[in-house]
Amino acid sequence: MSFDEIINRRGTYSTQWDYIEDRFGEGTKDLTPFSISDTDFKSPQPILDAILQRTGHGIFGYSRWNHDDYKNSIQKWYQTRYKTTIEKDWIVYSPSVIYSISTLLERLIGLGGKVMTHTPRYDGFTKILKPFNLYEVELKEDEDGVYRTDFFKIEDGFKDGVKIFLLCNPENPTGKIWSYFELEKLIGLCEKYDVILLSDDIHMDIARKEVTPILKINSKRCVIVSSASKTFNTPALGGSYALIPMQEIRDIFIEHIKERDSVASPTIFGVISTITAYNSCGEWVDELNKYLTKSCEYVVNELDGYKGLKVKIPEATYLMWIDFKDTNIKLEDLKRALIEVGKVAVMSGENYGDSYKLRLNIGCPLEKVKIGVEGIKRSVEKLCK
Ligand SMILES: Cc1ncc(COP(=O)(O)O)c(C=O)c1O
Repeated sequence: MSFDEIINRRGTYSTQWDYIEDRFGEGTKDLTPFSISDTDFKSPQPILDAILQRTGHGIFGYSRWNHDDYKNSIQKWYQTRYKTTIEKDWIVYSPSVIYSISTLLERLIGLGGKVMTHTPRYDGFTKILKPFNLYEVELKEDEDGVYRTDFFKIEDGFKDGVKIFLLCNPENPTGKIWSYFELEKLIGLCEKYDVILLSDDIHMDIARKEVTPILKINSKRCVIVSSASKTFNTPALGGSYALIPMQEIRDIFIEHIKERDSVASPTIFGVISTITAYNSCGEWVDELNKYLTKSCEYVVNELDGYKGLKVKIPEATYLMWIDFKDTNIKLEDLKRALIEVGKVAVMSGENYGDSYKLRLNIGCPLEKVKIGVEGIKRSVEKLCK
């Protein structure tokens, strides 16, 4: 398959293409969207074939995920791509990553409990963190353009009774990949203060340097929640998984899914797509990474330095984090210009905690990326006149 292929997604109940007005207001439905993080790429052929084959069977009764085909595929993916050993027992199916985080927080620390995470952060985190007592640590860019956390502030929070640290590895929206050294240090603090490290690794496969899953370093205090859905563009098929080495926590989670929320039967297409993706689509991911890196380079060439814009190739993800602080343009003006002049729906950084940034989703054919870049340029130019 060619990642250049343009496929019309309008009229498919696509959140990104068919519901633009929900995010960008009335009269915006004809904009070209670069918004929520799914991609405009077809899933790899083996996944399409597997789904077609299963559809042909014609019966979609209740199903199960707790079998070797599902668990072996996840185990194999972590072993081959991340040199990380996952015990089969640790694997638990979950309807979605956000469901896993929300459930684990509620069950492990209770509503109102103390949880720490970074800012800027994925807006989905902000929504589910509302019922909790939130401790924030700012990710700051150093002079080399690397995002750094503040370990002193983390330790202060842990001393104050924080019970869970919610990490995103790699980070959405900054694209930061946590280094082995940083993770070791964070895990050390978690051990010292009896804190659980909960890492959302959903963006792990789209990366431009090595990603270390926390379970490679420690399996006593760490939980990973992830999914094949970001990489293979299958979120509407449903399903994700949690990797929980601590049996006590795993039992609580499984009991909650089965007994309280009654969502134990997985979506069969979620299970089949995960198995196929992890068993057969590694090369497709390598090609996707190459394509996306080229698109990142294009965006940087066009926009970095353009009338004061700053942008660099993110370490991971297909999300470009564009800084407009030095343009002296006000956020509200830029938002309006992007819609009226640029005709593009680009996420404003305020959704993630930084009002001087834009988040441009480049998970699409380069032809579309060019429309986004031109739209941003026209909008900025108009405001700089
Ligand atoms: C960091 C992160 N976690 C979770 C999700 C959503 O995952 P799910 O749909 O499985 O809840 C997203 C989607 O954008 C994301 O960026």
